[in-house]
Amino acid sequence: MTVNGHTNGAAERPKTGIKVIVVGAGFGGLGAAIECHRQGHDVEIYEAFPELKTLGDIISFGPNAGRIFYRWSNGEVVRRMRPLSIDLRKYGFNIHKYDTGEIVINQKTPQYAEDAPNFNGHRGELHEVVFNYARDDLKIPIHLGHKIQTYFEDDKQSGIVLEDGRRVSSTLERKIAADVVIASDGVRSKARKSVLGYEDKPKSSGYAVWRAWFPNKDMLADPETAHFCNNGDTFNGWIGPDMHFLFSTIKNGSDCCWVLTHPDEHDIDESWSFPGKLSEVKQALKEWDPMCTRIISKTPEDMLVDWKLVYRDPLPTWVSPSGRILLLGDSAHPFLPTSAQGATQALEDGVVIAVCLRRGGKENVPTSVRAHEKIRYDRVRQTQKTGESTRDMWHKTNWDEVKKNPEIIQFPRQEWIFDFDAEKNAEEIYDNVVKEILAA
Ligand SMILES: Cc1cc2nc3c(=O)[nH]c(=O)nc-3n(C[C@H](O)[C@H](O)[C@H](O)COP(=O)(O)OP(=O)(O)OC[C@H]3O[C@@H](n4cnc5c(N)ncnc54)[C@H](O)[C@@H]3O)c2cc1C
Ligand SMILES: *[C@@H]1O[C@H](CO)[C@@H](O)[C@H](O)[C@H]1NC(C)=O
Repeated sequence: MTVNGHTNGAAERPKTGIKVIVVGAGFGGLGAAIECHRQGHDVEIYEAFPELKTLGDIISFGPNAGRIFYRWSNGEVVRRMRPLSIDLRKYGFNIHKYDTGEIVINQKTPQYAEDAPNFNGHRGELHEVVFNYARDDLKIPIHLGHKIQTYFEDDKQSGIVLEDGRRVSSTLERKIAADVVIASDGVRSKARKSVLGYEDKPKSSGYAVWRAWFPNKDMLADPETAHFCNNGDTFNGWIGPDMHFLFSTIKNGSDCCWVLTHPDEHDIDESWSFPGKLSEVKQALKEWDPMCTRIISKTPEDMLVDWKLVYRDPLPTWVSPSGRILLLGDSAHPFLPTSAQGATQALEDGVVIAVCLRRGGKENVPTSVRAHEKIRYDRVRQTQKTGESTRDMWHKTNWDEVKKNPEIIQFPRQEWIFDFDAEKNAEEIYDNVVKEILAA
């Protein structure tokens, strides 16, 4: 079956006639748009950024995201993402004790199924692959430079209001209507107010992450660090009291990337990241294995970012009162990086809403949107919590216990998270979930 010249991995769906507006072209918004397209809806994306920029650094996708990517043109998108992603089949993950530097365990990388791969790579580079696939392969309209101010809805439709002075196409219309709006506008969502009816400010999680991505030149020049870069990809983690330092080399060791999670009580401003200072990082690591400081020292200071980890209490609902605006991805549920599931869960959201809308049809959009929430809510909550539990497990390590049983310090890989097929599950339980909603 082909869609615009590409097989899309599912039987070609008839058009549903459902008009969907997606706000935000992050992984959440792009994934939702691609899945809506696959399921036969008419979808357009509105994004505030005036142009695509390859922003960010390391991002993770679990095999439960790989299974989604794999369905996009029969593995074509996966083939494009693979060379950009880390390959740890040989190296695994070395976990070090923070002070002595000793490797307490080498965690092997599982052999993932071909149709459910995992990816760790540069956010901007992977994002570009998905963005180009949506825009160029699928021809999904992506309107850049369109910042959404407010949202509206009634029983028949919902829509967006663009910032003053903005036009859509050649009309003067600033209000655009659809059957449903998917608001994937990130952790500082404006849509949240439309859905919740009140301002909900994110708070500090009590932690921040210093992070950097840079070329391997200075690492190669130092005989003590060259081995991280001249023999393929590597992944090392140093775990210590209230901090952890993760260092990887990617794309055959040519790029280096590290993240250092540390306590930080700063309040959050509008920006998601700030320039970082190497001297502060070195200060934080002064009691740690000198190798950590050696790696840090190779980082060009202008590539260092201080990323405040925003967190919030779980929202009571992701659905607006009339059921035609849905919060998706980080706008609904920000994740801590220690879950390594934030972007993956945003993708699962997109899969499920697209299936629900098709199953319900154009006449039942609000019920479908509520079914989506019911299908997703508990799974997302449980997955979110793993971010806290893994962080706390690492930051409060009992080293005597680790000596006896080093496996307890491994990064948890839960089957209920990884082996999940969001599309299959939604198809299976949709009817029953709707029955429950209608009976309530
Ligand atoms: C610039 C940037 C860099 C990031 N870097 C990393 C990283 O290095 N590692 C990592 O793990 N995660 C990173 N993230 C977060 C990560 O992308 C998300 O946690 C995850 O992919 C879920 O994506 P999302 O689509 O829900 O949200 P996001 O990726 O945050 O996307 C939200 C999108 O909505 C747009 N938007 C916001 N407000 C409006 C508005 N009013 N009107 C129109 N559009 C709007 C934003 O410009 C953005 O493109 C980054 C996010 C951004 C925006
Ligand atoms: C990876 O890099 C090494 C040198 O660091 C080189 O010898 C090898 O050919 C490279 N492999 C690939 C697949 O590019």
